[in-house]
Amino acid sequence: MNPGTLDSVVYGLFSTHALHLADRHGVLTHLIEGGPASAADTAAALGIDAETLERLLLVLAAVSVVQRDPDGRYRVAEETVPFLDSRDPRYIGGFVDHLVTNTTGQLRRLHDYLQHGKESVDAGLPSPFETIYRDEAATGAFLEAMWQLSFEPSKELAGLAELAGVRRLVDVGGASGAFAVAALSRYPGLNVTVFDLPQVGPHLERTRRTRGLGDRLRFTAGDFFRDPLPPADCVSFGYILSDWDDRFCLELLRKAYQACANGGRVLVMERLFDEDGGPLPTAAMNLSMHVETRGRHRTAAEYTALLEAAGFTGCVTRRSSWDKHLVIGGKP
Ligand SMILES: C[S@@+](CC[C@H](N)C(=O)[O-])C[C@H]1O[C@@H](n2cnc3c(N)ncnc32)[C@H](O)[C@@H]1O
Repeated sequence: MNPGTLDSVVYGLFSTHALHLADRHGVLTHLIEGGPASAADTAAALGIDAETLERLLLVLAAVSVVQRDPDGRYRVAEETVPFLDSRDPRYIGGFVDHLVTNTTGQLRRLHDYLQHGKESVDAGLPSPFETIYRDEAATGAFLEAMWQLSFEPSKELAGLAELAGVRRLVDVGGASGAFAVAALSRYPGLNVTVFDLPQVGPHLERTRRTRGLGDRLRFTAGDFFRDPLPPADCVSFGYILSDWDDRFCLELLRKAYQACANGGRVLVMERLFDEDGGPLPTAAMNLSMHVETRGRHRTAAEYTALLEAAGFTGCVTRRSSWDKHLVIGGKP
């Protein structure tokens, strides 16, 4: 490891917080919309403290998120603009906010896990989604973060899934409808049912209304560990299996097999570990899964093994240009 790599690890804490604060206080939007500006002018325009802002921007310049001109003005680096502009569909601000306000506090439990194991430390805790959906605001923020994370990749994944002949798709744990909307937009003959916990219903209904999808998009409230899944030609799971251990995943995939018509398919859309244990976003979110859920990330081979154990055959993996990829299994 060279010292530069070590620096990015040791000081990563500061860059994450600098990015989060600059986004939350409108600094990045101000620089993107208004063009290069000094910390003093930006602070005056936004009514925030100039010295603190200068220090935050120096950190962001050191990690190349912004650039500092010789005259001391700052600009958002061109290649990062789409991901930091809140009007762009690729905007990651909601995800960063979730990491800082939610995940960071939970990472402290890793220390206890190391000493006593996850099972005993988490023994008295409510199930993951009881915590995530603890009130209306938390539910809305989580579903918004999921939409931001999933909607753009879903457009490409819907293409990779080749759903032209599919009439009925059930998106299990489909949240506020990111994959459903992407698939419905691409395939005019398709109808999608999102099967999810009852708290999600009003959010999916808002998506249906605002996007004018009529009865092509429906919601079935249920608990996938207690209830059967609605029948379908294709059953999809986006970021679901990574929330659960292998035993629960197999239970879910067996239910999907039951629900799926003969000749139908199951779609598993997930981050994938490479065989060598990377890439970093998957390894990092694998830690996040450990404290926030009961799951983990897996390799394509591990998902294929789970699909085959549930009865699916002819499994193939299709990689997208995003962090979320597709493993498909067929029901003979
Ligand atoms: C990590 S989110 C994934 C959302 C979406 N599929 C995506 O790819 O962005 C997990 C989803 O599973 C749903 N979920 C969790 N437990 C569930 C259960 N027992 N029954 C039905 N849905 C559940 C949550 O409400 C949430 O929408």
